[in-house]
Amino acid sequence: MAVQISPSILSSDFARLAEEAKAVSGPEGADWLHVDVMDNHFVPNLTLGVPVVESLGKATGVPLDCHLMIEEPDRWAPQYVEAGAASVTFHVEAARAPVRLAREIRAKGARAAMALKPATPIEPYEDLLPELDMLLVMTVEPGFGGQAFLDIMLPKIRRTRELISRHGLQMWLQVDGGVSSSTIERCAEAGADVFVAGSAVYGAGDPADAVRRLRAQAQQATAAAPWACGH
Ligand code: DX5
Ligand code: ZN
Repeated sequence: MAVQISPSILSSDFARLAEEAKAVSGPEGADWLHVDVMDNHFVPNLTLGVPVVESLGKATGVPLDCHLMIEEPDRWAPQYVEAGAASVTFHVEAARAPVRLAREIRAKGARAAMALKPATPIEPYEDLLPELDMLLVMTVEPGFGGQAFLDIMLPKIRRTRELISRHGLQMWLQVDGGVSSSTIERCAEAGADVFVAGSAVYGAGDPADAVRRLRAQAQQATAAAPWACGH
């Protein structure tokens, strides 16, 4: 599985979203644009919703990877697919019926992904993995950009990769939070293949170059990783 980079627009200038999206697009640019939706209930921060996602989708050719940090995702997530998101991630801690929700997201035509906060283990959800296109292991407590990477999440990334391999699944494993040039290699080595980076991309002088560098680092670390042998 190829390494993919998903810059988080949370660290960009919200008054210039279309330009900020362009700053990471183009050849060797971002594979996805990570859009953090926060409702001030599931997390103590408020960002944007369906209308902004809809406009952003029209303004960029980069597919949108919507990360919903909201209560009642069962009720709201389908609207993000209708708004144009190519991938929709809900938090398992907030979902009432994760299987039904994942099926609905897929049926509407988007990739379905499920996120785990740092204190949520993967093991109870092993049997749900075939229902998902991607699993997101949060490497910070969700809510804010610019937080320090939680090294204690590396064993969970490793165990999740083992489960994916054991079940012979093609699903992606995303990491989000504190991913930067100093942490991305550890994530890749542990088994991640989709990397969200907010401040490491939009805090850089040249965001497109930051994307290229992060990808190169992750590719090198993946090539040397035991889990990726034969991939
Ligand atoms: C945090 C968000 C992240 C955030 C990452 O709750 O889900 O996507 O933008 O930002 P950095 O990469 O700066 O930690
Ligand atoms: Zn996110």
